[in-house]
Amino acid sequence: LGKEIVYFDSIGSTNDYAKEIAKDVKEGTIIIAEEQVKGRGRMGKYWHSIKGDGIWVSIILKPDIYPYEASFITQIAGASIVKGLKKLGVDSLIKWPNDIIINNKKVSGILTELGAEIDRINYVVVGIGMNVKTIDFPENVKSMATSIRKEGYNLERIDILKEILEEFERLYSNYIENKDKTECIEICKQNSAIIGKYVYVLKGDEKRKVKCIDITENGNLVIINDNNVKEELISGEVSIRGD
Ligand code: BTN
Repeated sequence: LGKEIVYFDSIGSTNDYAKEIAKDVKEGTIIIAEEQVKGRGRMGKYWHSIKGDGIWVSIILKPDIYPYEASFITQIAGASIVKGLKKLGVDSLIKWPNDIIINNKKVSGILTELGAEIDRINYVVVGIGMNVKTIDFPENVKSMATSIRKEGYNLERIDILKEILEEFERLYSNYIENKDKTECIEICKQNSAIIGKYVYVLKGDEKRKVKCIDITENGNLVIINDNNVKEELISGEVSIRGD
């Protein structure tokens, strides 16, 4: 991983660029940018990516797995971020499936995108955004967002990225080469912001209050739904506060 690195001072979105070049590059190629002018979050949201403020990176992967298995790669990314930060003395939690939070505020998000046919994957792009030095956030995200610096840590982006990529490489090769998901899932469970809690599951305008009880070996969230029935979610949008 990271043997080929493509670096930009400024780019639209590292995920968009990664998708463009994916078929022509080796697995493990990494795209890094100082600034994104069209940074994308999940659900078509804008991702604020000011120059020098954070880690804006995409990893190109070519795993031999089925498309339905690809959501596990988001779990690997989440586990790598939490474990990498922990090595630098920063405690964070995973808000399944793709947010990393500190003191209930989002510090990092993951956007996993697939190039796939019905039964095979051509590539997976794992985009990671982390607010490291950010002090001022735009008005619309201010109350929900934080940065490593705002939480009181003076860390450099390169040191954080190195730890995350090291963890990612280990957990990813464990999954692909040894079919071993256990360590990743252990990290996700032990550092979950939502297991044992009531949260809101959001879908369009619908909002259901459910209790999260577990994460399965495939990275799915196990909940007790509003009819008191156990359910497994493969993907979704979860809100702790309900907004
Ligand atoms: C989210 O929480 O909604 C996901 C945010 C993902 C942001 C990263 S920054 C690098 C990569 N390029 C993008 O345009 N988005 C991802």
